[in-house]
Amino acid sequence: MQTLPRRFLSGLGAEVSAVGAGCWTIGGPATNNGVPIGWDHVDTDAAYAGLLHAHERGVTLYDTADVYGLGQSERLLGRLLRLIDRTAVHVASKVGYFAGTARHAYQPAQMRRQLATTLDNLGTDYLDIYYLHSTDFGPDDQYLPGVVETMTELRREGLIRTVGMRAPHVFAEHWADSDHPHAAQTARFLHLFHTIRPDVITARYNLLSPLYADTDTDVFALARRHGVGVVIKQALGQGLLLKPHAGALPPFSAADHRSRDPEFHPAALELLRQRLSPIRARFGNRPADLARIALGYALHHAPDAPVLVGFRNADQIHTTLTAAGDPLTPEEFTEIRAALHPTPANRKA
Ligand SMILES: NC(=O)c1ccc[n+]([C@@H]2O[C@H](COP(=O)([O-])OP(=O)(O)OC[C@H]3O[C@@H](n4cnc5c(N)ncnc54)[C@H](OP(=O)(O)O)[C@@H]3O)[C@@H](O)[C@H]2O)c1
Repeated sequence: MQTLPRRFLSGLGAEVSAVGAGCWTIGGPATNNGVPIGWDHVDTDAAYAGLLHAHERGVTLYDTADVYGLGQSERLLGRLLRLIDRTAVHVASKVGYFAGTARHAYQPAQMRRQLATTLDNLGTDYLDIYYLHSTDFGPDDQYLPGVVETMTELRREGLIRTVGMRAPHVFAEHWADSDHPHAAQTARFLHLFHTIRPDVITARYNLLSPLYADTDTDVFALARRHGVGVVIKQALGQGLLLKPHAGALPPFSAADHRSRDPEFHPAALELLRQRLSPIRARFGNRPADLARIALGYALHHAPDAPVLVGFRNADQIHTTLTAAGDPLTPEEFTEIRAALHPTPANRKA
């Protein structure tokens, strides 16, 4: 069986498989404060078979969170970690959304309680990356100094190895000091980035991401300048980019967060179908073809960033991992990018 390519992830200071297992979907349905934060029903045996398959194929990066299925995702991953050599893989989890009985999810005592539960669920005594999942640090960011201090202590105690945070989906550093519509969110991210000083950030990057000018500092360039690693997420567009009939996806149940996402509404799906149709006509419309295009595009964009893929069973992750073994050529990448951004006007976020 082909082995997965590996990438050195700065910040973590270690090599990981170029494709990592994103374990949000396998958490299944969940709500937080009444809002759906999960996915349609997932068969836990099938999900676990997906995890086993990922391990057998050489995946060494596993990404979960305390709120993914309110522990189900961590517990499934824990079943795998109890079987295998823990030191041969890198495991990330997250904190910041679940407050329990605390006033805020980022109160230090609550963070420690969540970490204890996470470690217990996973059957491990440390995390390789601990992400600050939410950027809500309370009124006037009152919990932010305590969060930074708590993460430093957790690292000193050996419970976590590195600190992570999320990056915005669209970002160019200079927008912060301009009248760009994203100026405020860009300035906010930069403030948090320089305060938290993460080792690793996660960024959405896929076929639908904007192009930036060579002179723009996007999140990848910002991270490289600071020696921070980037982990790419949502390369499959949360399923959008892998369904053969992107104009007519089956409806999701109300428990699936995608049921509330405008990108999954019929009109948006029809626009997407039209936008992708030349690429699909040229490169194929089977799930294997679509996985090669979607994953290959993200892998090609940033050669130093591993890409997480979500899955709900072994078949799905088999298809995406197989696609990773057949990368896009530079010519194919250029052709796809030109088809997605046919005019210079489309190149602006
Ligand atoms: N740090 C953060 O804030 C953050 C945020 C988002 C995600 N993440 C991480 O990034 C990971 C990846 O993102 P994601 O899971 O949201 O999205 P994704 O990887 O873009 O998409 C996952 C979805 O793609 C579909 N899929 C996968 N393989 C398929 C195949 N072979 N054929 C057809 N459909 C297929 C499935 O959709 P169906 O369910 O429709 O079958 C699956 O649920 C997450 O699992 C999570 O670990 C982190």
